[in-house]
Amino acid sequence: MDKNREDRRIDYNRAPAYEVLFRLGKTTMRPGGMELTRTMLEELRVGENDNVVELAPGRGATTRLILELLPQSYTAVERSRASQQNVQEILRHGGLGQCVVGTAQETGLDDGCASVVFGEAMLTMQTKETKRKIAQEAYRLLAPGGRYGIHETCLKDNLSADITTEIESTLKDVLRVAARPLTLKEWRMLLEEAGFSVSGANEAPMHLLEPKRMIQDEGLWGGLKFASRVIASSSARRRIRGIRQAFNRYSDYINAAVLIAVKPA
Ligand SMILES: C[S@@+](CC[C@H](N)C(=O)[O-])C[C@H]1O[C@@H](n2cnc3c(N)ncnc32)[C@H](O)[C@@H]1O
Repeated sequence: MDKNREDRRIDYNRAPAYEVLFRLGKTTMRPGGMELTRTMLEELRVGENDNVVELAPGRGATTRLILELLPQSYTAVERSRASQQNVQEILRHGGLGQCVVGTAQETGLDDGCASVVFGEAMLTMQTKETKRKIAQEAYRLLAPGGRYGIHETCLKDNLSADITTEIESTLKDVLRVAARPLTLKEWRMLLEEAGFSVSGANEAPMHLLEPKRMIQDEGLWGGLKFASRVIASSSARRRIRGIRQAFNRYSDYINAAVLIAVKPA
């Protein structure tokens, strides 16, 4: 998406949910919140010797955490120019790294340039084929022994085909992206088919828009700012209500998951 498109007045009814949420001031979109992000970074063991690539950083909430870990290098690849500029600004203050405009499935970065690659709340919204391409791209970017972390929405095991179809179609409808969460087993298979060996998995409730999670992720001030913007616009209110209702309706069937995978040495 180009910057001009993002600069236009947003249509709260039709824009993808993440653009709506960004516009209302939410800075984090990952389904397991910042707590599961911290778990992912711990399990990825990001340290001073690492060359880190983040796919689709959005507004750069995890970029800030990475800067505190002082890796050797950090490169982010983001499709949206507005988000890329935002992350560049964070990096300018942090004095490390770069964020380039590009796609996660075709980053243009060198083979084996990274020891750690990760992406959050980004694979779920891709088609089956693009999910596969992104996992393969992560594999290509990593040097042997490198670690790949994903933080995505996850369907519980053993759901009937009918409920799975219903969830996919409702999420597509309310999120206005082709959201297709996988089960933990399917996420694992996606990574293994790209050549990875999966070394760990963690799950957490998918509470993206719950008040408690909102405050944990955005802080009290950020949460209040978000709430006041939602209250101020009837179309934003309607849209957020629709998203929350869908998340609540399917809360027994949806989780957040982090998987850690390793490229064989
Ligand atoms: C739901 S937001 C997640 C942002 C951030 N990772 C987070 O968890 O807060 C999805 C982000 O992925 C970006 N995106 C979607 N598809 C992409 C792709 N194929 N390549 C690069 N970025 C992509 C969007 O521009 C957006 O910033």
